[in-house]
Amino acid sequence: MSDHELRISKIRDGTVLDHLPGGSALHVLAMLGIDGSEGTGVSVAMNVPSGRLGGKDVVKIEERELSQAEVDVLSLIAPRATVNIVREYDVTEKKRVERPESVRGVLACPNSSCITNAGEPVETRFDVLDDGVRCGYCEEIIREGIADHLDVA
Ligand code: CTP
Ligand code: ZN
Repeated sequence: MSDHELRISKIRDGTVLDHLPGGSALHVLAMLGIDGSEGTGVSVAMNVPSGRLGGKDVVKIEERELSQAEVDVLSLIAPRATVNIVREYDVTEKKRVERPESVRGVLACPNSSCITNAGEPVETRFDVLDDGVRCGYCEEIIREGIADHLDVA
């Protein structure tokens, strides 16, 4: 992308999440538990043109290097995301999100009788299936609209 097309500045140090589905950036931040209270720079660009794919979102998180385990939860909503670790303005590492076996504390169970909805101090856990996720407590399955079930307090 040429400089006159650049929507948000390059960052000095941190993590750039690229090739996120158009419109998913705020869900991505919610899944990572980033809400701005950290006090460090977070830039979001939504629905920027991206070749034949149409629109993509980009999120730049400054002064924080996300680990593979931290970004893997994004595979549920952004399986094609590219994760770029930036140091002193250079991309020093590029990785893809990988599908984890399970995700903890990220999704809320839609089953109102589930133990995780009983006001008990139980952290949610969902096993990741090929076509959805399954609650580790009541076995309720979520197949579509996973982003609608984010457990963000
Ligand atoms: N980036 C950034 N700040 C930097 C370096 C890179 O914000 N100091 C961003 C770029 O704007 C881009 C992403 O990190 O969104 C990846 O950078 P780079 O690897 O240089 O770009 P591409 O080769 O286009 O990426 P890809 O391999 O994903 O096609
Ligand atoms: Zn459940």
